[in-house]
Amino acid sequence: MPRKKSLPKTIGILTSGGDCPGMNCSIRAVVRTAIGLGIHVKGIEGGYAGILGEKIKNMSVSSVGNILQRGGTILRTSRCPEFHEKSYRKKAYQILKKHNIDALVVMGGNGTFAGANVFYNEYKIPVVGIPGTIDNDIMGTEYSIGFDTAIQTAMEAVDKIRDTAFSHSRIFLVEVMGRKSPAIALKVGVCSGAENIIFNPEDEDLAQVVKDIKRGEKRGKKSSIIIVAEGEEPGLSYALQAELKEKFKIESTVCILGHIQRGGSPTAFDRFMASKMGYIAVKALAEHNYPMVTIYKNGRVALAPLHKCLETKKRPNKEALEIVRALSI
Ligand code: F6P
Repeated sequence: MPRKKSLPKTIGILTSGGDCPGMNCSIRAVVRTAIGLGIHVKGIEGGYAGILGEKIKNMSVSSVGNILQRGGTILRTSRCPEFHEKSYRKKAYQILKKHNIDALVVMGGNGTFAGANVFYNEYKIPVVGIPGTIDNDIMGTEYSIGFDTAIQTAMEAVDKIRDTAFSHSRIFLVEVMGRKSPAIALKVGVCSGAENIIFNPEDEDLAQVVKDIKRGEKRGKKSSIIIVAEGEEPGLSYALQAELKEKFKIESTVCILGHIQRGGSPTAFDRFMASKMGYIAVKALAEHNYPMVTIYKNGRVALAPLHKCLETKKRPNKEALEIVRALSI
């Protein structure tokens, strides 16, 4: 008879990269599912840097009480350039061994998963990733935790901007987050009834946007909301504002929503997804199913091989742009 494989003894959990609403729900789910199965959990503070700095603490059932509704991450997070270096990863492996951590749950975005993948390839430490980034730009999963809450926050902000845009008859350029990913811009554009979205200014025909603004003005529209995807870094809207003025004599006002989009209490959808993914991540480790990522596909939470989520870049759903343009005539 084949010998039954044993459970991991201690799971380490960390959150890494930009934080997002829902991280605490997953931490709670991981800690409680594991303890329920008789597995110890250690919380690593501040992402991969927390391994190197040995910021490692025992997690108990009550250490994750009353956090479900809180934004951010109780474990804190960081981006850790050292982890790109082999020597630091070796040190990290030794530290995990010293703390008897024999499996990992990592929550974050593409950078977090790339780090987990290389670490697994080198040291074969069992690992499962949970997608957590407001950018929703992870390949292989239709959804990343935090996206829904970020959309809700940005949409509510645009609703408020629309009030003042209307009152002053202004054109607003509202810049939303999503480094290199237009996912937030596209969805917020539809949800807030924006007049247009600009997410790739090199290809973007600003003249078309101007044409659409003028068409609206002709039928009596006094204000317009243009959603701008931040691109490489925040501030792109100021360049577009200058271009609108210089080339087309159009005045506009810029509002950069910024980090407000990363905070706040998670929506019901994010709480549910984060709890379910945390539960499934531990089950996967208990069943020796790794290295994996919890994914959302065709309406179901499932698992996919970690490397599959890193193979290519996720393509934006450009249909949203067509919808925005079709509905803002
Ligand atoms: O976490 C993702 C994200 O919020 C992107 O949308 C944004 O471009 C980036 O992080 C900002 O990062 P930081 O807070 O480190 O400037």
